[in-house]
Amino acid sequence: ENVKDLHRTGYHFQPTKHWINDPNGPMYFNGVYHLFYQYNPKGAVWGNIVWAHSVSKDLINWERLEPAIFPSKSFDQYGCWSGSATILPGNKPVILYSGIIDKNNTQVQNYAVPENVSDPYLHKWIKPDNNPLIVADKHVNKTAFRDPTTAWLGKDGQWRITLGSRKNDKGVSLLYKSKNFINWTKSKKPLHSLAGTGNWECPDFFPVSIQGTKELDTSVIEGDIKHVMKISLDATRYDYYTLGTYDTKKDKYIPDKGMVDGWNGLRYDYGNFYASKSFFDPSKNRRILWGWANESDPVHDDVKKGWAGIQLIPRTIVLDPNHKQLLQWPVEELETLRGKKVELINKKLDKGERVEIEGIPAAQADVEVTFSFNSLEKAEPFDPSWDSYDAQKLCSQKGSTVQGGLGPFGLLTLASEKLEEYTPVFFRIFKDQEQKHVVLMCSDASRSSLEDKKGMYKPSSAGFVDVDINDKKLSLRSLIDHSVVESFGAKGKTCITSRVYPTIATYDNAHLYAFNNGTETVEIESLNAWSMNKPQLMNH
Ligand code: FRU
Repeated sequence: ENVKDLHRTGYHFQPTKHWINDPNGPMYFNGVYHLFYQYNPKGAVWGNIVWAHSVSKDLINWERLEPAIFPSKSFDQYGCWSGSATILPGNKPVILYSGIIDKNNTQVQNYAVPENVSDPYLHKWIKPDNNPLIVADKHVNKTAFRDPTTAWLGKDGQWRITLGSRKNDKGVSLLYKSKNFINWTKSKKPLHSLAGTGNWECPDFFPVSIQGTKELDTSVIEGDIKHVMKISLDATRYDYYTLGTYDTKKDKYIPDKGMVDGWNGLRYDYGNFYASKSFFDPSKNRRILWGWANESDPVHDDVKKGWAGIQLIPRTIVLDPNHKQLLQWPVEELETLRGKKVELINKKLDKGERVEIEGIPAAQADVEVTFSFNSLEKAEPFDPSWDSYDAQKLCSQKGSTVQGGLGPFGLLTLASEKLEEYTPVFFRIFKDQEQKHVVLMCSDASRSSLEDKKGMYKPSSAGFVDVDINDKKLSLRSLIDHSVVESFGAKGKTCITSRVYPTIATYDNAHLYAFNNGTETVEIESLNAWSMNKPQLMNH
């Protein structure tokens, strides 16, 4: 296979060629899911940004349409950057996006509406002449002034949006209000802010149900709910979130007590996942999260292969019953792509043992496994000098090969037969001074490829999993797709995505193993692995 296709994904969303970044304006409208995204129609590097547009009935099979929004007016001639969709009363969709108006990167907020709402695919979008709707006032940094959210309706009948900005080094989420969606006024106080975090990109602000049965439209601002505030921080390229309360009287978001806001906070994903956006799907009363994964290879390789960036599998998000975090899980529709299945049950893995999962193409698979163990005795002490936040350091020091007590155990994905290349996804369990267990989850790209060029990024991505392991079980699901491994630990408590570029472990030469390098025996209680079929990705 040629270089163009070697690392192309089989069931993730990507265009036939060129660069993509942020998912934009996802929505469900009249039976159709819409996904827009930042796209360079001219090449595999960032630039010339338009809103590409695809539609789907099931979030898996897509039709690619012509770009919906592209530079054409004075208020967006240097770029159509990220934004969101809102469905107004009367079933009227409207998009808010950031327009770049000059060479100095000055940002304004614009709107676009469908030319014909009865066109089921909403092919054409109009940018009315009363744009821009919002420009930066003199207190606002006009080059850090972008990425409007889906609007929500206050009890006073006014719409509200928030957008990302910064004041010096303080990240802020500016709040704007409008009665008619046309005239917007800035609130004196931002919805939220945090010193030392720099510019906030792509904020997302939405309710989650405390009961967790039915998710909610973004305009639900009261009731048995919590609010989620997500920000994308450019310096680390992670999406961070907190749970909290939306004080509707003061129009302020207040993170819950005990929530860590900013750099050490919770992340949607501890790997390659950025500029995500959620939307409410009224057809299934769920909230769905889209995230973008950039390439981790050198830029000139992207140019050579002619494409860069994928959208990750959309995830449903709900509040964890512990109310301290979210749970994420691939949308159920993904399971329609499952083909051949192989199964393992009650397979013991002694210290140093490895078993191959055979019978499915391991380069394009969906694997679900539950590990169990008889005792927690051998959990290693968690050294109090370790920075309790720095899972990544711990993962890169120990990797999957340094023998432990309870763990490391997990999967070796995209592995070559002789293990010259592999991306292990695994757990390792410690016990801290208060006798509390600390579960580390890693997706370690450091041995993923023999290629070792400048500009190749092979991080040992990791996070802790806040899970009760007194039942002596841990589950893992990994979506393996040629150059991406998306993993969900403990039913979606901790998620890690790696982009990897194997040179040997490709196509039929890719293998999948389960392993245990801890002294405690671990049992594969059950493992199901499926080959994954290709969805339809049609050009229109
Ligand atoms: C995030 C981002 C946004 C911006 C867009 C431009 O990745 O930088 O802040 O709107 O990408 O493509």
